[in-house]
Amino acid sequence: MTSQTLDRVLIMDAVRVAEEAAIAAWALAGRGDEKAADQAAVDAMRTALNELSIDGVIVIGEGERDEAPMLYIGEKVGTGTGPRIDIALDPLEGTTLTAKAMANALAVMAWAPAGTMLHAPDTYMDKIACGPGYPAGVVDLDRSPADNVRSLAKAKGVEPSDITVCVLDRPRHAEIIASLRDVGARVYLITDGDVAGVMNTANADTGVDLYVGQGGAPEGVLACAALKCVGGQFQGRLVFRNADERARAITHGITDLDKKYDLHEMVRADAIFVATGVTSGALLDGVRMEGGFVHTHTLVMDSSTSTVRQVRMKRRL
Ligand code: FBP
Repeated sequence: MTSQTLDRVLIMDAVRVAEEAAIAAWALAGRGDEKAADQAAVDAMRTALNELSIDGVIVIGEGERDEAPMLYIGEKVGTGTGPRIDIALDPLEGTTLTAKAMANALAVMAWAPAGTMLHAPDTYMDKIACGPGYPAGVVDLDRSPADNVRSLAKAKGVEPSDITVCVLDRPRHAEIIASLRDVGARVYLITDGDVAGVMNTANADTGVDLYVGQGGAPEGVLACAALKCVGGQFQGRLVFRNADERARAITHGITDLDKKYDLHEMVRADAIFVATGVTSGALLDGVRMEGGFVHTHTLVMDSSTSTVRQVRMKRRL
């Protein structure tokens, strides 16, 4: 491995880790127990990671050490004898989606060479993202949602009414949603899962052009790793609800608390990103048991080669 590129043989290792987390979470899909589904995914992902010949450190994980016993920020994973890797993960992105057996729950993970991923604290982040093929700066976090829709429509050569914007359905987004509708845009609301929400902008099949709104900062870094592989633009700014969250950011080495990050500042070197479907959605099919086999569907992307692969796994139970 060079210092800035992950060895490609690691890619299938990463796929297997995400598959194990998805299978474990799926066993609890629709049972109404978010915590149990999340714990199953965490256990499976951690076990799979610790079997790998990597010297990994969790930079985006289940939370701070004092509140998350496993896959906490700073935890070392792997045998400690391989390449040094920063790991961002969310073993179950969409705990509520899984507990209710709703679409779009994923097991996600991104790897990049050590020291190259933003150590985002577990706070909120204001986010804006669009897919590939637009001039740099076509959308900007500091512009109004309506201005961003107009700018993107102009760059796409369409009317604002032809633009579809994905937003998390939350009361805090009422104003954004109203102003998007005022400018004529179509608003595609999601109940959870903004990693997939951001990724929708780079997937023409979804019809989503733009993502805006506030979601988890860790999910922001994961979404950046995904977009880095397929092009696209992302800006994010941390949002702090209290002094404790600000203090946490400082302990993560963040000095400018108001900084507007772009995706290449959040993931500073080439990365690989994997996502396995837990429940079926626009991006991926969910886990399926059939004829004595378990089936999974995984998206695996490598920014060093701008490659996107889909891996379908079938294993005898
Ligand atoms: P979990 O899987 O941890 O439940 O997160 C789901 C999610 O929808 C994220 O995708 C998103 O970033 C975040 O929650 C939004 O937070 P909130 O539910 O507090 O608005």
